[in-house]
Amino acid sequence: MHASNDIQQISPILIGLMGSGKSSIGRRLAKALDLQLIDLDDYIVAQAGRTIPEIFEQDGEPAFRQMETVALRDVVGKQAVIATGGGIVGSEENRRILNAHPPVIWLKASPEFLAARIDGDTNRPLIAAGDTLKKMQELATLRYPLYQQCADFTLPRGDMKKKEALAAILAFLNCWQQEHLHSQ
Ligand code: S3P
Repeated sequence: MHASNDIQQISPILIGLMGSGKSSIGRRLAKALDLQLIDLDDYIVAQAGRTIPEIFEQDGEPAFRQMETVALRDVVGKQAVIATGGGIVGSEENRRILNAHPPVIWLKASPEFLAARIDGDTNRPLIAAGDTLKKMQELATLRYPLYQQCADFTLPRGDMKKKEALAAILAFLNCWQQEHLHSQ
């Protein structure tokens, strides 16, 4: 029997820096759990009718962050896997929402690993100008403690294949569900 068949009534939220694989692993996880995937960036883009670079350019980052909080409030609690944007942990309000909606899974990877994956990506305004590695190092310093605060499970990425990452997440969710849902 497939391990994921045992996992029900669970809506995992994926967090982590840009390039950590939240959307791609989220897609696989959603398929394994037979849930829809809600990608928060895609949700914001659909609501705004504009791309993320357009929102940043026309309205500024603070406006994007507000949209992000509204989007997070809209989607938490739905039966879905939720893939968030890397900056979701920046606001206290978002962290409060994340903490209230476990399980939250942090896809943890080094700035070096991530910078190599996303360098040159024109859809990510935060790395549009300047040195991508330096930016990712700054973001890691700032955000690692915040991801840590919100995470129920930390998955170290690095060389781990997506298949292995998925298996590790499913194993965690099985344990988590036994501890939390069955005791309610
Ligand atoms: C951001 C990450 C992006 C997107 C926006 C800002 C960030 O999402 O929300 O460009 O602050 O790290 P991904 O993590 O999916 O790339």
